[in-house]
Amino acid sequence: MDYSEILNKPALIGREKELKQLKEMLESMLSGHGGLVFISGEAGIGKTRLIFELRDYALPLGVRFLTGRSLYHEGSDPYLPFIDALREYFKREKHEEAKGDEKISGPIGFIGHVGGLEKMESRSEGAIPLGLLTTMGHDESQKREEIDIRKERDRMFETVLQLIISISKEKPLILFLDDLQWADSASLQLLYYISRNIRETRVLICCTYRPEDLLESEGKAHPLTDTIKRMSRERLFATINLKRLNYEETKKMTQSLLRRDDIPKPLTDLIYDKTEGNPFFVEEVVKSLIEEGMINTKDKGWAEKLDLSNAKVPMTIKDVITRRIDRLDEDSIKALEIAATIGREFTFDVLQKATEMNEETLLDSLDALIAAKLIREESGENEEKYRFDHTSIREVVYNSLSRGKRRMLHRKVGQALELLKKEKLSEVVYNLAYHFSQGMDYERAAQYSMKAGDKAFKSYAPNEALQYYKMAIDALDKLEESIEQKEQKLLILNNMGKICYYSTAWQDGIEYYKQMLALADELKNNLMRAEAYRSMGHIYREKNEWEDAKTNLETAIKISEEIKDQHGLGDAIRGRGWIEWRLGNLEKAIEYFKNALSNAESAGDSRVIASCYIDLGNVYGDKGEFEKAIEYYSKSEKLLEAQGDYFELARVYNNVGETYKEQGMLEKAVEYYEKCIQTSEKSKNMILLAFGYQNCAEVYARM
Ligand SMILES: Nc1ncnc2c1ncn2[C@@H]1O[C@H](COP(=O)(O)OP(=O)(O)O)[C@@H](O)[C@H]1O
Ligand SMILES: [Mg+2]
Repeated sequence: MDYSEILNKPALIGREKELKQLKEMLESMLSGHGGLVFISGEAGIGKTRLIFELRDYALPLGVRFLTGRSLYHEGSDPYLPFIDALREYFKREKHEEAKGDEKISGPIGFIGHVGGLEKMESRSEGAIPLGLLTTMGHDESQKREEIDIRKERDRMFETVLQLIISISKEKPLILFLDDLQWADSASLQLLYYISRNIRETRVLICCTYRPEDLLESEGKAHPLTDTIKRMSRERLFATINLKRLNYEETKKMTQSLLRRDDIPKPLTDLIYDKTEGNPFFVEEVVKSLIEEGMINTKDKGWAEKLDLSNAKVPMTIKDVITRRIDRLDEDSIKALEIAATIGREFTFDVLQKATEMNEETLLDSLDALIAAKLIREESGENEEKYRFDHTSIREVVYNSLSRGKRRMLHRKVGQALELLKKEKLSEVVYNLAYHFSQGMDYERAAQYSMKAGDKAFKSYAPNEALQYYKMAIDALDKLEESIEQKEQKLLILNNMGKICYYSTAWQDGIEYYKQMLALADELKNNLMRAEAYRSMGHIYREKNEWEDAKTNLETAIKISEEIKDQHGLGDAIRGRGWIEWRLGNLEKAIEYFKNALSNAESAGDSRVIASCYIDLGNVYGDKGEFEKAIEYYSKSEKLLEAQGDYFELARVYNNVGETYKEQGMLEKAVEYYEKCIQTSEKSKNMILLAFGYQNCAEVYARM
């Protein structure tokens, strides 16, 4: 059945007030007052449509419109909404032939100049959102032994913010983030960060979500609920809640859908009665009535002949869609089910591999699905791409699958992806982890979830990394016990602990390290035992729980000595010294730091060496031995510069400034505070930047 002759895309019905509010926000954005708006409402109520109306209004005014999808629950990348939007921008930018890129400042100017993301990597000075790059499929070449995700993530957030602001300086920008109920929590944190900093820009962010989908999981609030709560405390957004259409509006929508004014009242009554004015439901019911032959506007006397007495209109959206699907042929249903397993979007090649249908049959099936307005073709660059006409359709199809069938289909999709992407598996690890976990292929699920966890970790998406690591452990637990399996668990637990350490989730961190320790004991793996004790020691140290910190660090030191692990030894002794420093035992602290230094030197561990220099600088400063302090600081300076660690470097400059200030050498102090400012700017270290300015001002006031 081809609807196209009967069914029309309806004009926008109602929504005058909402559109007016959006246009006002657009006006003030255009005059330099950016903002954010949340459009909420149930599935099919018209959230996406409303923003598309705004887009159609705004584009002729010279506004740029970028869209980001949220597909996290289907196994896609953390930060996808932003990656999408930025990709769209860079793609266009390339087409627009680097015109006028001088006027663009910051990283974007550079990218515009060299013409693409791939070149971002070559910019080594720290303005690159490394985490995003990793998710965008560029494997991070620069391997750091330890990455402090919190530091790096803040830096990345600031860079993305600056990127968005510089894009908006070319042309005012509407950033559309659809279906945020399915966004990853890392994106939501980034969104929060950005929303706090766009008040004086020409950026309008439009977000949609379905309140009914903000469910708790594992006793934790949905990440979007948290984000909204935080943002509302700071009054960072406006809201629009979409309600269902009333009777008159439903009638108008039906008229518009059928391109007729003469809609018989019983038909409107029936439609309104069933749908209660949900626009998507209205469309589906009308389609269903057309399919049943109830409505045929091509027949002149249709209105008179209309007999609704035996019209079987289902009561729910689910039923109406299910009924429409039941009318399809077997091949089309098969294609639709596998498509729904892939996700809201799917490509021809994956679908074909997974369905194992021949090309022609599959193309016919896809045509049938398009004609039934269940899916539509998307303009992809070099792949044939499709998407469900509405997310509800995908949900109904997917939810109708039995558990056994779902498992089988996920496995097929996973295998198809694995085959098709065998050259670039790292691009699809999240998808593979998701499909093989759902497919209960535990061997592969474990393998890919682990890699997905690593990738998310590198992309500074800590919660997502933890989720994938948990998935990996769940899968490993389903496999037969073996040494290899336990060793993998050990590595995963260690990474989970690290993530918690850097996200200051102390309690969870201790939990993971305890599990790690138990496993390491069992495996008699002393290196990992030492690492677990050491890491717990560091956590207790951060929590100022000195006794526990000492016990754990000393156990770590003992084990590391036994196995002659100088790297571990350096790090543990340094931690031990830190405690003495904080307790005010400066002599003892110096002794520990010097000991740590010599271990780190024999291990060639330049990161710990640099840290020891800073520590020694700090302690000598506290002792009033300023010259010695500065001597150590400048030793660390050289190392940090060589390592490209501008974050720590800024801290050192600040400390050197402090040391000069203490001595009353104000000129010198200013010199270093200014270095601190410059370096902080380079590394997007906002906290130290603020400190730098404040300290500078203070010293100037005294001069
Ligand atoms: N006010 C409206 N007037 C006419 N059609 C509408 C209206 N709101 C939504 N629709 C149509 O209903 C369908 C569902 O709308 P959509 O924006 O996709 O819903 P949501 O994003 O809230 O799930 C779309 O086909 C859309 O064009
Ligand atoms: Mg929508």
